[in-house]
Amino acid sequence: MGYTGHRPALDVVLDGLRRLEYRGYDSAGVAVLDGDGGLAVERKAGRLANLEARLDEVGRDTLTGGTGMGHTRWATHGAPIDRNSHPHRDTTGRTAVVHNGIIENFAQLRAELEADGVELASDTDSETAAHLVARIYDGDLAAAVRTVCRRLEGAFTLVVTHADEPDKVVAARRSSPLVVGVGVGETFLASDVAAFIEHTRDAVELGQDQVVTITKDGYEVTDFHGEPVVAKPFQVNWDLSAAEKGGHDYFMLKEIEEQPEALANTLRGHFADGRIVLDEQRLADQDLRDVDKVFVVACGTAYHSGLVAKYAIEHWTRLPVECELASEFRYRDPVLDRDTLVVAISQSGETADTLEAVRHAREQKARVLAICNTNGAQIPRESDAVLYTHAGPEIGVAATKTFLAQIAANYLVGLALAQARGTKYPDEVAREFHELEAMPAAVQHALGTVGQVRELARELADSKAILFLGRHVGFPVALEGALKLKELAYMHAEGFAAGELKHGPIALIEDQLPVVVVMPSPKGRAVLHSKLLSNISEIQARGARTIVIAEEGDDTVKPFADHLIEVPAVPTLLQPLVSSVPLQVLAAEIARSRGYDVDKPRNLAKSVTVE
Ligand code: AGP
Repeated sequence: MGYTGHRPALDVVLDGLRRLEYRGYDSAGVAVLDGDGGLAVERKAGRLANLEARLDEVGRDTLTGGTGMGHTRWATHGAPIDRNSHPHRDTTGRTAVVHNGIIENFAQLRAELEADGVELASDTDSETAAHLVARIYDGDLAAAVRTVCRRLEGAFTLVVTHADEPDKVVAARRSSPLVVGVGVGETFLASDVAAFIEHTRDAVELGQDQVVTITKDGYEVTDFHGEPVVAKPFQVNWDLSAAEKGGHDYFMLKEIEEQPEALANTLRGHFADGRIVLDEQRLADQDLRDVDKVFVVACGTAYHSGLVAKYAIEHWTRLPVECELASEFRYRDPVLDRDTLVVAISQSGETADTLEAVRHAREQKARVLAICNTNGAQIPRESDAVLYTHAGPEIGVAATKTFLAQIAANYLVGLALAQARGTKYPDEVAREFHELEAMPAAVQHALGTVGQVRELARELADSKAILFLGRHVGFPVALEGALKLKELAYMHAEGFAAGELKHGPIALIEDQLPVVVVMPSPKGRAVLHSKLLSNISEIQARGARTIVIAEEGDDTVKPFADHLIEVPAVPTLLQPLVSSVPLQVLAAEIARSRGYDVDKPRNLAKSVTVE
């Protein structure tokens, strides 16, 4: 959030941060320029209320002025504590920066600054931008910001102020959202129109690699080289509630659409110099080479992502992989020792069952790698190493973008193991990673089925039950599709390994019972494809209504599908990333048709912190 105009900046900025509160965060901060060369900053870990209490403590009269900015942080680099909160300043305190995104080359920039004797005050990537701008600044803030942006790699939205230019705010956008609000005698900047639509509905969307300078009289946009750019104004016709959901009726629907970005952000920065690099990897390659068994532990949707991981990690590393429900893990007296790698998957990082499984694994001297979406949560803190997903805050109780991000993170762990153990040559690891990098676009393509699935959902909304079948990596997808339907539409649903049908479940098939079948590619494990077609014949013969999720162009499935939903062709092991999308939409749309609250299903909590 940035502001300059005729109102007290502190009030406008705090109000804006409150309106961005739904995005979830772990710390917040503000900077205000008083016009006499002063730049005051206050920031606090925790809820916005902590910052407000801090402001009351220091006295709000120390933050007067018509120009300011603020930030709520969802930590990626550096734990959610005061000194890692934004705004970050340079050593003179005259330049302040807030940042959304990930500066990929921050380690190199930090090293450069430290080599020049700069004392960095935080563990964040964002702080480097403040020092870099300050070192270049020579009276033209926009020019300094442009020069710095040309050096940054990764995704970033930066908002920058300088005490010497108290009548303006400069911001830059690459990949993370940024929008300008144009008022009368005042101008706003925000990640999301929700922050300022109570003041103005005249907005301007910024494009990739653009820098904007706002003053109370308006704004100017250039590219990163200073060339003027004509930015597109638009009218915001959402109310506040819709604005928070990006125009959707529910956060979950917005989060389903955010999955390409969640995937891209999770993969970003994990392949450098021809090698997979994990996050705060406190597991040396030798540790990974010593591993002789992998245990994946998780709950619910995270467990389903672990089931997918089992296929990938076994295939790439030839290591035995067990995937166990965290709530069962420590009671089954699992066989663990220091050469067992336990992968604990949890988007919240606070799930009690998974946390207890981590503690049990540590007691047995196993090494624990956490896959988590919440920086600084308990599970990563108690693990030997962590690989963060960067799906951003997930507000909907039903996991969607964090599920796809977990699958991608699991693949990175599998490739890192294969790379360390030499079961994949570097060029093979590179090839697999580049196939992963194509997945955000494939998921974007799969989102093209939303309209068709919404129609289908209306037809199926009154079903008594829906079954889900899959084979190989399609089996965990079937389980996840069933879970989504249970938790959102309160409808009985069950996922099966298709090969199990004849061992009992086929007795459930009756006339018009909807059965969703997750088909593999005909070009992948062809035997699985043909066996699934015969499974479909068996259920069609008993009157089932078949909904088939299949690869685009796979005409062989047409005679077997009462409803055919086509997803893009992707490599076998990556198929869950695209075939899960229509199942998420199906569950959400059936729930909506039934009039249920898609974001807050009954009896459920977003994070289950009790056993
Ligand atoms: C998924 O839609 C559910 N909300 C639930 O199963 C969830 O995946 C499970 O509770 C695990 O949560 P975690 O990833 O935060 O550990």
